[in-house]
Amino acid sequence: MTEKVEIKIQDATFEAPVVVGSENERAIDIGNLRAKTGFVTIDPAFMNTASTKSAITFLDGEQGILRYRGYPIEQLAEHCEFVEVAYLLIFGELPNEKELLRWRTLLTRHSLIHEDMKHFFDGFPSTAHPMAVLSAMVCSLSTYYPEEVDLSNKEQLEITYARLISKIRTIAAFAYKKSIGQPFVYPRNDLKYCANFLNMMFSVPAEPYTVDPETEKVMNLLLILHADHEQNCSTSTVRLVGSSRANIFASMAGGILALWGPLHGGANQEVIEMLEAIQKDGGDVKKYVELAKDKKSNFRLMGFGHRVYKNFDPRAKIIKAAADKVLSKLGIEDPLLGIAKQLEEAALQDPYFVERKLYPNVDFYSGIIYRALGFPTNMFTVLFALGRLPGWVSHWKEMMEDPTTKIGRPRQIYTGAPARDFVPLAKRA
Ligand code: ACO
Repeated sequence: MTEKVEIKIQDATFEAPVVVGSENERAIDIGNLRAKTGFVTIDPAFMNTASTKSAITFLDGEQGILRYRGYPIEQLAEHCEFVEVAYLLIFGELPNEKELLRWRTLLTRHSLIHEDMKHFFDGFPSTAHPMAVLSAMVCSLSTYYPEEVDLSNKEQLEITYARLISKIRTIAAFAYKKSIGQPFVYPRNDLKYCANFLNMMFSVPAEPYTVDPETEKVMNLLLILHADHEQNCSTSTVRLVGSSRANIFASMAGGILALWGPLHGGANQEVIEMLEAIQKDGGDVKKYVELAKDKKSNFRLMGFGHRVYKNFDPRAKIIKAAADKVLSKLGIEDPLLGIAKQLEEAALQDPYFVERKLYPNVDFYSGIIYRALGFPTNMFTVLFALGRLPGWVSHWKEMMEDPTTKIGRPRQIYTGAPARDFVPLAKRA
């Protein structure tokens, strides 16, 4: 029997069903509240509202737990390649050998973009932020694949997902090459997903380039750690755009744009810029911790705090350890890593951060690794988007396959002027 709770509103009692998740999370289903009582609920920024049921990712922010399809992020990060994790998120299970081979082949075969699309890059100034270019180009894919995605056609869907995940990498690398005035480097079918991307980013026709295995490994790790994070801002955007039955490319472009913001994925770029500013200013981390606490300043410690994690972000723990390892393996000494560690230590000892449960998030150390690998700062959020794409695709798929899905359409509480009569221009004050 469905559990119910009673909500007393004035003299009336509303009986609401309780929805229980597989990890025993509990939600009150208020879908009928307005019809029964005339009341709606209000929850700006969705602080306490589950927008959907989902079987993809489980996150416990109090305990610092993150699992994709039940598998702990730590285990996936240690044992998997990014393409396996992408398959897991989208199709629900880890692929067997045959499935993985087929998936890899699809990703390999769909890496080129239409030759005409190369000219689009000429239309952007070389100073364009690559996130603007990425979203425009991903949306433009819909002009080359305008056919309706047939939800009953499994093969066509797989190709569409592979197209997106494969081509975004080519687009990202081309955007970078365009910005520095180097020729585009085409994808190579003999290279795996991350190596292929690194080759398109960093090789030039004038000399041979070999992908460093250590760099490829850490690239895989970072993409896995960013691959999904349940109903965050960009994923919710993808779902909302997709709920109107806008095409999948438009839905993904919406996700990219939401990710760009400095309070979301754009924070990885902001973190490095903040660390550079602290370094330039003499490296006094305490000064910046004080500034972040000062409500009169607009300054926040970028890469700190999270809507859901009120404990260590498990991804940040893995990335911090990886940063130490990668920098030492590549023989790089980055003073920004030292500043980041001092800043973390100072913040974690400060009552302001302790009381508000503000810990380093996924963006705090990732930029230090990207820098060490040679990525420019403005590409950091693009790398986040590359990692997050399978998550967006899996949420889009889950939503579209659910026969109960309706267009997303929140209500509001109107606080404007009451009804009044039109005033002709000559009579306006
Ligand atoms: N530095 C200083 N103070 C902070 C920070 C921070 N980074 N983050 C939160 N706070 C303070 C707020 O001022 C607020 O204080 P108050 O209670 O005295 O008013 C309190 O902590 C709660 O913060 P909110 O902004 O209400 O929390 P919310 O859940 O809305 O925001 C967010 C979460 C956006 C991530 C926030 O912590 C932030 O701005 N962090 C910096 C940007 C960042 O790193 N974003 C990446 C997040 S991870 C991701 O999206 C991939």
